[in-house]
Parts: sequence; C-alpha cells; structure tokens
Amino acid sequence: MSTVRVSSGIPGIDEMLKGGFFPNRIILLRGGPGTGKTIFSIQFLVEGAKKGQKGLYVTLEEPLDSIRKTAALLGFDLENYEKQNIIKTIDGSQLVYKFSEEPKRGFEGQKPVVSQIVNQIKLEAQSFGAQRLVIDPITSAIIHQRFPTDKRLEILELMKTLRTTKCTSIITSESASSSEDEFFVEEYLADGVIILAKTMHNFTIVKMAWIEKMRGINHDDQPRKYEITDKGIVVYSTEPVTA
Ligand SMILES: Nc1ncnc2c1ncn2[C@@H]1O[C@H](COP(=O)(O)OP(=O)(O)O)[C@@H](O)[C@H]1O
Ligand SMILES: [Mg+2]
Repeated sequence: MSTVRVSSGIPGIDEMLKGGFFPNRIILLRGGPGTGKTIFSIQFLVEGAKKGQKGLYVTLEEPLDSIRKTAALLGFDLENYEKQNIIKTIDGSQLVYKFSEEPKRGFEGQKPVVSQIVNQIKLEAQSFGAQRLVIDPITSAIIHQRFPTDKRLEILELMKTLRTTKCTSIITSESASSSEDEFFVEEYLADGVIILAKTMHNFTIVKMAWIEKMRGINHDDQPRKYEITDKGIVVYSTEPVTA
C-alpha cells in the first residue's frame, strides 16, 4: 500500500526521500547559521500553497519583514499568498518573551514555556486549517532550559502537541558547526531529521545536505551537495559531495 507523499518543494529532496514526506509527520531541519533553513521552510510552504494547501509559518527569531524580503528576492511570492489567505505568518518571538517573563510558579502550577507556545501555535494552525506548519527556529524557545531532562520533557510535549494537528511540520534547529558532539534530543523525538551543513575542504566551503533519519522511508543515506541559488535551494541528489 502506498501513502500519498507531501512534496518538500526543494528540488532533490523528494528524490532522496523516494517521493516526499509522509503526511502529518514532524521533520526537524538542523543546520548552522546561513545554511538555508529559513529558505527551505518557505519553499516547503510555497510548494503547498501552489497546490492550495494552507500553510502556517511561525518565526521565533528573524523579523517577518526580513523573511518576506528574502522570499521575494528568491521569487517566492509569500506576501501574495498571505493576501490570498493560503499562507499565514506569525511573529512568535513575542510569545517567547511573554511566556518567559511570567514568574515561575513551581513545576506543577506552571506549564513549561515551549508547551504554552506550541499550544498557541496549534490553535492557530487548527483555526487556519493549515496542512503545513513551520516553526523557525525552535532554539530560542528551548534555550531557557538548562538541564537536558527539562529540555527532553519540553520537546516531548512539543511533539505530542504537534501530532494532534493535521499538519506536516518542519521545525528548524540551530547548530554551531563546532558542536558535532552536542546532544540533540529533538532528533530522537522527531519523525525525520534533515541536516544542512557547511564544511571546509581545501580552503573551499562545501554545502551538503543529508537525511539523518526519516521513519518508514528507505531514503538516500549519503550527503549531497546543495546550493542556495537565486531561485531557492537546490539539492544535487545524484552527485556525491566533492569540493
Ligand atoms: N538571493 C539569494 N541568492 C543566493 N543566496 C542567497 C540569496 N538569499 C540568501 N542567500 C543565502 O542564504 C543564506 C541565508 O539563508 P537562511 O535560510 O536565512 O539561513 P538560516 O535560516 O539557516 O540561517 C544567506 O546567508 C545567503 O548565503
Ligand atoms: Mg533562519
């Protein structure tokens, strides 16, 4: 039996996934600064919008104006889709501040910051009728947690809440290039993980993307070269990475 797949909108990625994402799954997109996480996310939503699928984009860091500008430069008419009510954008950074400022009333009385934010996002997604959802990035919301156990609980809660939406979701997560051995708990809990990375080879920066995991899919497991072109991200899914 074959399930209908959700097209990523990124040339090369669907090929690596042998068709696309499974619907209603949570995909984590991890990469360092400037690796193209935000562009990838917008491309994913615009791909849906072209097919009339509604998408909700929540930014937790970069201002919406800046994102709209980048999108326009790459030929993604985000603002037009917003006017048509197919894509909705929310600046969630306000939520992060609001909930962070509230006094902590102990573990039982107060719900953790992330779950409050995600509950709001879920309600938005439901009332908008979103089929695609992006939270970009989740880092700022979870950075408050100093202890890995708290972080794990919050991410678990986040995933649980997102699973009750009718959305295929992309959550982006920042990683520094130097933190190879960092413990990314969110990667264990997501259904899929895609990594965008930059590496230096012979004094040349090479950008490569790979699928770390994708539950239920016999995906390509090799790193592939990608570029951020003036039309967005393109992954060269059949070529090995060379400098
Ligand atoms: N019009 C463009 N043409 C080519 N590359 C671009 C263009 N716009 C942005 N970029 C590249 O994309 C990067 C930013 O991508 P972005 O998705 O914001 O990264 P991230 O969200 O991972 O920090 C820029 O640093 C630049 O290298
Ligand atoms: Mg970004």
